[in-house]
Amino acid sequence: MAVRNILTDEDPLLRKTSREVSEITPRIETLVEDMLDTLYETGNGIGLAAPQVGVLRRVFVIDLQEDEDSQPLVFINPEIYETDGSQVNQEGCLSVPGRWGEVERPAHLRVRALNAKGEPFDMEATGLLATCICHENDHLDGILFTDKVIGELDEA
Ligand code: NI
Repeated sequence: MAVRNILTDEDPLLRKTSREVSEITPRIETLVEDMLDTLYETGNGIGLAAPQVGVLRRVFVIDLQEDEDSQPLVFINPEIYETDGSQVNQEGCLSVPGRWGEVERPAHLRVRALNAKGEPFDMEATGLLATCICHENDHLDGILFTDKVIGELDEA
C-alpha cells in the first residue's frame, strides 16, 4: 500500500488512451490498493483514474465518502452502455488543481465493469455518482473535464 504521485494537466500521459486489463495480476491488485490510498490521502477527492497516477490501464476508483460507512467502488474495464437525461454539475479534478467548472453529463447511466477481484458487476447510477463515473471514465480516454466545461473555468 502506497500513496502515488498524481499527475497534473500538463502531463502528456493524461491525454493517452488507456489499455484494458486482461488479467487481475498482483500488479493490478497493488495498483488498485495504491489508488485508494492515494485518493484518501487527498482528503477531498471522490474519484481517481489509473492514468492520473501514470498507469495507462482502464481502472478507476470512486468513493463519494457521503457517510462513515461509505465503501469504495472499483471499476476495471468499465463500459457505460446506457445513458439518459442530463444534469449539470460543478466538477473539479485532482489532476487540475485549483480549477472548477460546470459540465453536462447524463442524469442516469448503466455501467458494467469488473471489481477489484475481477468479478463482473453491473450497476445503475444517478446524480453525483453518475457524474463521477463519466468523469473518471473520460480519463481512460485521455479526456479531462476542462475539455467539456460550459463557459468559463473558475480558478481558486
Ligand atoms: Ni479527474
